[in-house]
Amino acid sequence: MRKKYAAGNWKMNKTFEEGQILLSEVVNMVKDELTHPNVQVVLGVPFPYLSTFSKLIDTPKVALGAQNCHPKASGAYTGEVSVPMLKSVGVQYVIIGHSERREYFGESDAFIAEKTDAILAEGLTPIFCCGETLAQREAGIHFDFVKGQITNSLFHLDAGTLKKVVIAYEPIWAIGTGVTATSAQAQEMHKVLRDHLAGQYGSETAEEISILYGGSVSAANAQELFSQPDVDGGLVGGASLKSRDFTEISKSFPA
Ligand code: PGA
Repeated sequence: MRKKYAAGNWKMNKTFEEGQILLSEVVNMVKDELTHPNVQVVLGVPFPYLSTFSKLIDTPKVALGAQNCHPKASGAYTGEVSVPMLKSVGVQYVIIGHSERREYFGESDAFIAEKTDAILAEGLTPIFCCGETLAQREAGIHFDFVKGQITNSLFHLDAGTLKKVVIAYEPIWAIGTGVTATSAQAQEMHKVLRDHLAGQYGSETAEEISILYGGSVSAANAQELFSQPDVDGGLVGGASLKSRDFTEISKSFPA
């Protein structure tokens, strides 16, 4: 059975003190309430908090995530953070290719491919984000565009390595807008992406890869989204900043 994920992406939110409170609340609620044996909670928090927060997490149900990394292990890259650095403070997951990084920081498919390799080389798990704009969807090129993002950044991997990647489909028009893709739209794209993976690697490999949906996931819509056969959880922005909402999302998987 594919692993299911409730992954929080805090983005650039919360002071250290606020973050400590939020993290502790989520950890305690998840420890007490999350009974599904196959659900992994991931908290993608700001860089400065990682070292302290890794010591506050005392359950394997919750893993620590970073929101970005640089592909080089070390060197003259002022302001950047490498994967060995992240690993050294207890990070297990790294979100890469988020549309905000692609759009505001000009990150290319090739650069994201380098990051993917760097993360996998250290034994960490990339959460690879992809997704189309509204204009691309309206033009009917959304399937090809998102398949292309996956091809360009992931298809250099061998099958055994690809299985270690988590994919997050996040339609840009649904991020932070309150407009969620319908569960049918999410399922449709996830199936297209899984078929695309199967075309390159075979269906056995494709069936093992967790594909998350992201874009205005909430405690109210998570159950419907997560009930779709190819939706293996969510990458959650706004609702991950509220401990009760995020915990409810982590409990929204079918038994
Ligand atoms: P949102 O963000 O849940 O606030 O729409 C999702 C994301 O950008 O990962």
